[in-house]
Amino acid sequence: MELFDVYPLYDVTPVKAKGCYVYDENDKKYLDLYGGHGVISIGHGHETYVTALCEQIQKMGFYSNSVKNPLQEALALKLGKLSQCENYNLFLCNSGAEANENALKLASFETGKRKVIAFDRAFHGRTSAAVSVTDNPKINAPLNQQHQVVFLPLNDIEKVDMALAGNDIAAVIIEGIQGVGGLDQGTSEFFKALEERCNQHGVLLILDEIQSGYGRSGKFFSFQHHGIQPDIITMAKGMGNGFPIGGVLISNEIKASYGLLGTTFGGNHLACAAALAVLDVMEKEDLMKNVTKVNAHFMKRIQEIETVTLIKGRGLMLGVSFAYNVSEMRKKLIFEEQIFTGGSSDPNLLRILPPLCVTAEQIDNFIDALKRVLEKIENKKEQLN
Ligand SMILES: Cc1ncc(COP(=O)(O)O)c(C=O)c1O
Repeated sequence: MELFDVYPLYDVTPVKAKGCYVYDENDKKYLDLYGGHGVISIGHGHETYVTALCEQIQKMGFYSNSVKNPLQEALALKLGKLSQCENYNLFLCNSGAEANENALKLASFETGKRKVIAFDRAFHGRTSAAVSVTDNPKINAPLNQQHQVVFLPLNDIEKVDMALAGNDIAAVIIEGIQGVGGLDQGTSEFFKALEERCNQHGVLLILDEIQSGYGRSGKFFSFQHHGIQPDIITMAKGMGNGFPIGGVLISNEIKASYGLLGTTFGGNHLACAAALAVLDVMEKEDLMKNVTKVNAHFMKRIQEIETVTLIKGRGLMLGVSFAYNVSEMRKKLIFEEQIFTGGSSDPNLLRILPPLCVTAEQIDNFIDALKRVLEKIENKKEQLN
Protein backbone atom coordinates (compact mmCIF):
# COMPACT_ATOMS: atom_id res chain seq x y z
CA MET A 1 0.00 0.00 0.00
CA GLU A 2 1.14 3.56 -0.67
CA LEU A 3 0.09 6.83 0.90
CA PHE A 4 -2.83 8.75 -0.63
CA ASP A 5 -0.77 11.40 -2.35
CA VAL A 6 -2.30 14.73 -1.31
CA TYR A 7 0.76 16.65 -0.06
CA PRO A 8 3.55 18.11 -2.22
CA LEU A 9 6.62 17.32 -0.10
CA TYR A 10 9.96 19.01 0.46
CA ASP A 11 12.75 16.45 0.34
CA VAL A 12 13.65 16.70 4.02
CA THR A 13 12.96 14.23 6.85
CA PRO A 14 12.95 15.64 10.37
CA VAL A 15 13.44 12.88 12.93
CA LYS A 16 13.99 14.80 16.16
CA ALA A 17 13.51 18.32 17.49
CA LYS A 18 14.39 20.51 20.43
CA GLY A 19 13.41 24.11 21.17
CA CYS A 20 13.35 26.02 17.87
CA TYR A 21 15.38 23.42 15.94
CA VAL A 22 14.54 20.24 14.08
CA TYR A 23 17.13 17.66 12.95
CA ASP A 24 17.05 15.37 9.93
CA GLU A 25 18.17 11.73 9.76
CA ASN A 26 21.78 12.87 9.18
CA ASP A 27 21.63 15.13 12.25
CA LYS A 28 21.53 18.26 10.08
CA LYS A 29 20.04 21.11 12.13
CA TYR A 30 17.23 23.35 10.80
CA LEU A 31 15.90 26.53 12.40
CA ASP A 32 12.13 26.14 12.63
CA LEU A 33 10.42 29.44 11.81
CA TYR A 34 7.26 27.62 10.78
CA GLY A 35 6.46 25.55 13.88
CA GLY A 36 4.98 22.73 11.81
CA HIS A 37 2.27 25.11 10.55
CA GLY A 38 1.94 27.32 13.62
CA VAL A 39 1.52 24.34 15.96
CA ILE A 40 4.67 24.46 18.08
CA SER A 41 3.99 27.01 20.80
CA ILE A 42 6.31 26.32 23.76
CA GLY A 43 9.10 24.79 21.65
CA HIS A 44 9.86 21.25 20.51
CA GLY A 45 10.50 18.64 23.18
CA HIS A 46 10.12 20.98 26.16
CA GLU A 47 11.09 19.08 29.29
CA THR A 48 7.92 20.00 31.25
CA TYR A 49 5.80 18.85 28.32
CA VAL A 50 7.68 15.59 27.72
CA THR A 51 7.59 14.74 31.44
CA ALA A 52 3.85 15.50 31.68
CA LEU A 53 3.04 13.28 28.70
CA CYS A 54 5.30 10.42 29.85
CA GLU A 55 3.85 10.49 33.37
CA GLN A 56 0.28 10.60 32.05
CA ILE A 57 0.68 7.70 29.59
CA GLN A 58 2.10 5.60 32.42
CA LYS A 59 -1.02 6.33 34.48
CA MET A 60 -3.70 6.30 31.74
CA GLY A 61 -3.80 7.61 28.19
CA PHE A 62 -7.50 7.52 27.48
CA TYR A 63 -10.93 6.88 28.85
CA SER A 64 -14.28 7.99 27.51
CA ASN A 65 -16.27 11.17 28.12
CA SER A 66 -18.89 9.21 30.07
CA VAL A 67 -16.82 9.28 33.28
CA LYS A 68 -15.27 12.11 35.30
CA ASN A 69 -11.96 13.49 34.06
CA PRO A 70 -10.48 16.02 36.50
CA LEU A 71 -7.80 16.93 33.94
CA GLN A 72 -10.49 18.53 31.77
CA GLU A 73 -11.69 20.62 34.70
CA ALA A 74 -8.12 21.65 35.56
CA LEU A 75 -7.58 22.62 31.92
CA ALA A 76 -10.78 24.69 31.76
CA LEU A 77 -9.82 26.49 34.97
CA LYS A 78 -6.25 27.26 33.91
CA LEU A 79 -7.21 28.23 30.36
CA GLY A 80 -9.95 30.54 31.64
CA LYS A 81 -7.49 32.27 33.96
CA LEU A 82 -4.60 32.65 31.54
CA SER A 83 -6.76 33.77 28.62
CA GLN A 84 -8.90 36.05 30.81
CA CYS A 85 -11.96 34.30 29.38
CA GLU A 86 -13.41 33.06 32.67
CA ASN A 87 -17.00 33.74 31.60
CA TYR A 88 -16.86 31.05 28.91
CA ASN A 89 -17.29 27.26 29.06
CA LEU A 90 -14.94 24.82 27.34
CA PHE A 91 -15.78 22.03 24.90
CA LEU A 92 -12.79 19.88 23.95
CA CYS A 93 -12.20 18.21 20.59
CA ASN A 94 -9.25 17.09 18.47
CA SER A 95 -8.48 19.60 15.72
CA GLY A 96 -9.13 23.06 14.35
CA ALA A 97 -11.69 21.96 11.77
CA GLU A 98 -13.57 20.06 14.44
CA ALA A 99 -13.56 23.10 16.72
CA ASN A 100 -15.10 25.24 13.94
CA GLU A 101 -17.55 22.49 12.95
CA ASN A 102 -18.82 22.38 16.53
CA ALA A 103 -18.88 26.18 16.82
CA LEU A 104 -20.99 26.52 13.65
CA LYS A 105 -23.30 23.69 14.68
CA LEU A 106 -23.76 25.26 18.11
CA ALA A 107 -24.57 28.67 16.58
CA SER A 108 -27.18 27.01 14.39
CA PHE A 109 -28.70 25.12 17.34
CA GLU A 110 -28.77 28.31 19.41
CA THR A 111 -30.33 30.60 16.78
CA GLY A 112 -32.40 28.03 14.88
CA LYS A 113 -30.89 29.46 11.67
CA ARG A 114 -28.58 27.95 9.06
CA LYS A 115 -26.88 30.70 7.08
CA VAL A 116 -23.34 31.91 7.89
CA ILE A 117 -21.31 35.01 7.00
CA ALA A 118 -17.62 34.32 6.31
CA PHE A 119 -14.90 36.42 4.71
CA ASP A 120 -12.96 36.44 1.46
CA ARG A 121 -9.78 34.31 1.62
CA ALA A 122 -10.89 32.72 4.91
CA PHE A 123 -9.59 29.28 5.91
CA HIS A 124 -11.50 27.42 8.62
CA GLY A 125 -10.69 23.75 8.00
CA ARG A 126 -11.79 20.80 5.91
CA THR A 127 -14.81 19.20 7.61
CA SER A 128 -18.21 19.87 6.09
CA ALA A 129 -19.40 23.16 7.59
CA ALA A 130 -15.82 24.36 8.24
CA VAL A 131 -14.79 23.87 4.61
CA SER A 132 -18.00 25.48 3.38
CA VAL A 133 -17.01 28.72 5.16
CA THR A 134 -13.50 28.39 3.68
CA ASP A 135 -13.05 30.56 0.61
CA ASN A 136 -11.52 27.95 -1.69
CA PRO A 137 -13.81 26.19 -4.19
CA LYS A 138 -11.07 23.63 -4.94
CA ILE A 139 -11.40 22.02 -1.52
CA ASN A 140 -15.22 22.21 -1.37
CA ALA A 141 -16.81 18.99 -2.68
CA PRO A 142 -20.39 19.09 -3.99
CA LEU A 143 -21.45 17.58 -0.63
CA ASN A 144 -20.02 20.57 1.24
CA GLN A 145 -21.63 23.10 -1.08
CA GLN A 146 -25.07 22.49 0.44
CA HIS A 147 -24.27 24.89 3.28
CA GLN A 148 -25.58 28.44 3.00
CA VAL A 149 -22.65 30.82 3.19
CA VAL A 150 -22.17 34.46 2.20
CA PHE A 151 -18.57 35.55 1.63
CA LEU A 152 -17.89 39.24 2.21
CA PRO A 153 -14.77 41.40 1.99
CA LEU A 154 -12.93 42.08 5.26
CA ASN A 155 -13.48 45.54 6.75
CA ASP A 156 -16.68 46.31 4.81
CA ILE A 157 -19.36 46.72 7.47
CA GLU A 158 -21.93 48.00 4.97
CA LYS A 159 -21.88 44.65 3.18
CA VAL A 160 -22.27 42.91 6.55
CA ASP A 161 -25.30 45.12 7.29
CA MET A 162 -26.84 44.18 3.95
CA ALA A 163 -26.31 40.47 4.58
CA LEU A 164 -27.76 40.72 8.10
CA ALA A 165 -30.88 42.49 6.88
CA GLY A 166 -32.30 39.17 5.60
CA ASN A 167 -32.62 38.07 9.25
CA ASP A 168 -31.62 34.50 8.40
CA ILE A 169 -28.02 34.44 9.69
CA ALA A 170 -26.90 32.09 12.48
CA ALA A 171 -23.27 33.18 12.77
CA VAL A 172 -20.45 35.34 11.56
CA ILE A 173 -17.14 33.45 11.51
CA ILE A 174 -13.85 35.33 11.23
CA GLU A 175 -10.17 34.57 11.86
CA GLY A 176 -8.48 36.87 14.38
CA ILE A 177 -5.70 37.18 11.79
CA GLN A 178 -6.06 35.32 8.49
CA GLY A 179 -3.52 32.51 8.21
CA VAL A 180 -3.65 30.55 4.95
CA GLY A 181 -5.29 33.54 3.20
CA GLY A 182 -2.19 35.71 3.72
CA LEU A 183 -2.14 37.47 7.10
CA ASP A 184 -4.82 40.10 6.51
CA GLN A 185 -6.94 41.13 9.49
CA GLY A 186 -9.95 43.18 10.44
CA THR A 187 -9.39 46.64 11.88
CA SER A 188 -10.44 47.29 15.50
CA GLU A 189 -13.25 49.44 14.14
CA PHE A 190 -14.49 46.55 11.99
CA PHE A 191 -14.30 43.97 14.81
CA LYS A 192 -16.19 46.33 17.15
CA ALA A 193 -18.85 47.00 14.52
CA LEU A 194 -19.20 43.25 13.86
CA GLU A 195 -19.71 42.59 17.57
CA GLU A 196 -22.31 45.34 17.79
CA ARG A 197 -24.23 44.15 14.70
CA CYS A 198 -24.16 40.51 15.87
CA ASN A 199 -25.60 41.56 19.24
CA GLN A 200 -28.29 43.68 17.56
CA HIS A 201 -29.38 40.84 15.26
CA GLY A 202 -29.06 37.89 17.68
CA VAL A 203 -26.31 36.43 15.48
CA LEU A 204 -23.38 34.61 17.10
CA LEU A 205 -19.87 35.95 16.51
CA ILE A 206 -17.36 33.11 16.16
CA LEU A 207 -13.69 34.07 16.43
CA ASP A 208 -11.43 31.49 14.81
CA GLU A 209 -8.25 31.73 16.91
CA ILE A 210 -6.97 28.36 15.77
CA GLN A 211 -3.81 29.89 14.36
CA SER A 212 -3.81 33.40 15.83
CA GLY A 213 -4.59 32.31 19.41
CA TYR A 214 -2.58 30.81 22.22
CA GLY A 215 -0.27 33.77 22.62
CA ARG A 216 0.87 33.98 19.01
CA SER A 217 -0.20 37.62 18.58
CA GLY A 218 1.32 38.77 21.90
CA LYS A 219 -2.05 38.52 23.68
CA PHE A 220 -3.66 35.19 24.50
CA PHE A 221 -6.23 35.66 21.71
CA SER A 222 -5.70 38.11 18.88
CA PHE A 223 -9.25 39.53 19.18
CA GLN A 224 -8.12 40.89 22.56
CA HIS A 225 -6.20 43.58 20.64
CA HIS A 226 -9.60 44.95 19.58
CA GLY A 227 -11.49 45.04 22.92
CA ILE A 228 -14.36 42.75 21.85
CA GLN A 229 -16.05 39.71 23.40
CA PRO A 230 -17.04 37.07 20.85
CA ASP A 231 -19.80 34.57 21.61
CA ILE A 232 -17.67 31.58 20.60
CA ILE A 233 -13.88 31.22 20.28
CA THR A 234 -12.19 28.29 18.56
CA MET A 235 -8.62 27.14 19.16
CA ALA A 236 -6.28 24.26 18.29
CA LYS A 237 -2.69 24.40 16.89
CA GLY A 238 -0.62 25.90 19.76
CA MET A 239 -2.92 24.38 22.38
CA GLY A 240 -1.17 21.00 22.43
CA ASN A 241 2.28 21.97 21.05
CA GLY A 242 1.87 19.11 18.57
CA PHE A 243 -0.44 16.82 20.51
CA PRO A 244 -3.78 16.89 18.64
CA ILE A 245 -6.29 18.88 20.68
CA GLY A 246 -8.82 21.58 19.85
CA GLY A 247 -11.25 23.54 21.93
CA VAL A 248 -14.33 25.73 21.73
CA LEU A 249 -14.89 28.49 24.29
CA ILE A 250 -18.59 29.14 24.59
CA SER A 251 -20.07 32.23 26.21
CA ASN A 252 -21.86 31.17 29.39
CA GLU A 253 -25.03 32.77 28.03
CA ILE A 254 -25.29 29.76 25.69
CA LYS A 255 -26.71 26.86 27.66
CA ALA A 256 -25.44 23.30 27.32
CA SER A 257 -27.66 20.23 27.23
CA TYR A 258 -26.74 16.54 27.29
CA GLY A 259 -25.86 15.23 23.86
CA LEU A 260 -25.80 18.66 22.16
CA LEU A 261 -22.11 18.14 21.25
CA GLY A 262 -19.94 15.09 21.72
CA THR A 263 -16.74 13.26 20.76
CA THR A 264 -14.93 10.01 21.51
CA PHE A 265 -11.35 11.25 21.67
CA GLY A 266 -11.82 14.94 22.51
CA GLY A 267 -10.49 15.92 25.95
CA ASN A 268 -8.72 12.60 26.53
CA HIS A 269 -6.26 12.31 29.40
CA LEU A 270 -3.11 12.55 27.30
CA ALA A 271 -4.38 15.55 25.34
CA CYS A 272 -5.31 17.34 28.56
CA ALA A 273 -1.89 16.59 30.07
CA ALA A 274 -0.26 18.11 26.97
CA ALA A 275 -2.50 21.19 27.03
CA LEU A 276 -1.94 21.72 30.77
CA ALA A 277 1.83 21.52 30.29
CA VAL A 278 1.61 24.09 27.46
CA LEU A 279 -0.24 26.57 29.69
CA ASP A 280 2.18 25.91 32.52
CA VAL A 281 5.19 26.74 30.34
CA MET A 282 3.49 29.74 28.71
CA GLU A 283 2.90 31.18 32.16
CA LYS A 284 6.27 30.28 33.75
CA GLU A 285 8.34 31.46 30.78
CA ASP A 286 6.16 34.51 30.10
CA LEU A 287 6.00 33.55 26.42
CA MET A 288 3.51 36.25 25.43
CA LYS A 289 6.01 38.84 26.58
CA ASN A 290 8.68 37.11 24.51
CA VAL A 291 6.37 37.28 21.47
CA THR A 292 6.08 41.06 21.82
CA LYS A 293 9.81 41.47 22.41
CA VAL A 294 10.91 39.29 19.49
CA ASN A 295 8.29 40.89 17.23
CA ALA A 296 9.83 44.33 17.89
CA HIS A 297 13.26 42.95 17.04
CA PHE A 298 11.96 41.28 13.86
CA MET A 299 10.25 44.51 12.73
CA LYS A 300 13.47 46.44 13.21
CA ARG A 301 15.76 43.97 11.46
CA ILE A 302 13.43 43.24 8.51
CA GLN A 303 13.70 46.96 7.55
CA GLU A 304 17.23 46.12 6.37
CA ILE A 305 15.78 44.11 3.50
CA GLU A 306 14.91 46.63 0.82
CA THR A 307 13.00 44.23 -1.44
CA VAL A 308 10.36 43.65 1.25
CA THR A 309 7.20 45.48 0.16
CA LEU A 310 4.99 44.94 3.23
CA ILE A 311 4.90 43.23 6.63
CA LYS A 312 1.54 41.81 7.70
CA GLY A 313 0.24 40.15 10.86
CA ARG A 314 1.07 40.56 14.52
CA GLY A 315 3.39 39.12 17.14
CA LEU A 316 4.92 35.92 15.80
CA MET A 317 2.28 35.41 13.12
CA LEU A 318 3.91 37.39 10.36
CA GLY A 319 3.79 37.67 6.59
CA VAL A 320 6.69 39.19 4.67
CA SER A 321 5.61 40.36 1.19
CA PHE A 322 7.85 40.60 -1.85
CA ALA A 323 7.12 41.80 -5.37
CA TYR A 324 7.64 38.26 -6.70
CA ASN A 325 6.88 34.61 -5.97
CA VAL A 326 8.70 33.35 -2.85
CA SER A 327 8.79 29.63 -3.62
CA GLU A 328 12.45 29.67 -4.75
CA MET A 329 13.33 31.75 -1.69
CA ARG A 330 11.69 29.18 0.61
CA LYS A 331 13.52 26.31 -1.08
CA LYS A 332 16.86 28.09 -0.76
CA LEU A 333 16.14 28.89 2.88
CA ILE A 334 15.54 25.20 3.60
CA PHE A 335 18.23 23.54 1.49
CA GLU A 336 21.00 26.15 1.59
CA GLU A 337 20.41 27.86 4.93
CA GLN A 338 18.51 25.15 6.86
CA ILE A 339 15.59 27.39 7.83
CA PHE A 340 11.93 26.40 7.61
CA THR A 341 9.45 29.14 6.68
CA GLY A 342 5.89 28.94 5.38
CA GLY A 343 3.85 29.92 2.35
CA SER A 344 0.22 30.97 1.96
CA SER A 345 -2.34 31.37 -0.81
CA ASP A 346 -0.55 34.64 -1.65
CA PRO A 347 2.44 33.38 -3.69
CA ASN A 348 4.49 36.52 -2.85
CA LEU A 349 4.23 36.10 0.92
CA LEU A 350 6.75 34.41 3.19
CA ARG A 351 5.04 33.20 6.35
CA ILE A 352 6.81 33.28 9.72
CA LEU A 353 5.25 31.21 12.54
CA PRO A 354 8.07 30.21 14.90
CA PRO A 355 7.72 28.62 18.32
CA LEU A 356 6.82 31.38 20.80
CA CYS A 357 10.16 30.88 22.57
CA VAL A 358 12.20 31.96 19.53
CA THR A 359 15.03 34.35 20.41
CA ALA A 360 16.24 37.65 18.92
CA GLU A 361 19.51 35.87 17.99
CA GLN A 362 17.60 33.26 16.00
CA ILE A 363 15.79 36.08 14.16
CA ASP A 364 19.22 37.64 13.44
CA ASN A 365 20.34 34.33 11.93
CA PHE A 366 17.24 34.32 9.75
CA ILE A 367 17.74 37.90 8.54
CA ASP A 368 21.39 37.19 7.66
CA ALA A 369 20.38 34.01 5.82
CA LEU A 370 17.58 35.82 3.99
CA LYS A 371 20.04 38.48 2.82
CA ARG A 372 22.35 35.78 1.41
CA VAL A 373 19.45 34.03 -0.33
CA LEU A 374 18.10 37.27 -1.80
CA GLU A 375 21.53 38.19 -3.09
CA LYS A 376 21.75 34.86 -4.92
CA ILE A 377 18.25 35.30 -6.36
CA GLU A 378 19.07 38.87 -7.51
CA ASN A 379 22.38 37.71 -9.07
CA LYS A 380 20.58 34.93 -10.94
CA LYS A 381 17.98 37.42 -12.23
CA GLU A 382 20.75 39.76 -13.44
CA GLN A 383 22.51 36.92 -15.25
CA LEU A 384 19.26 36.00 -17.00
CA ASN A 385 18.63 39.62 -18.09
C1 LIG B 1 -7.48 29.68 11.03
C2 LIG B 1 -7.60 28.19 10.88
N1 LIG B 1 -8.76 27.61 11.16
C3 LIG B 1 -8.90 26.27 11.07
C4 LIG B 1 -7.86 25.46 10.67
C5 LIG B 1 -8.05 23.97 10.58
O1 LIG B 1 -7.34 23.32 11.57
P1 LIG B 1 -7.00 21.77 11.46
O2 LIG B 1 -6.04 21.60 10.33
O3 LIG B 1 -6.43 21.42 12.81
O4 LIG B 1 -8.28 21.06 11.20
C6 LIG B 1 -6.63 26.04 10.35
C7 LIG B 1 -5.50 25.21 9.88
O5 LIG B 1 -4.57 25.66 9.25
C8 LIG B 1 -6.50 27.45 10.45
O6 LIG B 1 -5.34 28.06 10.14
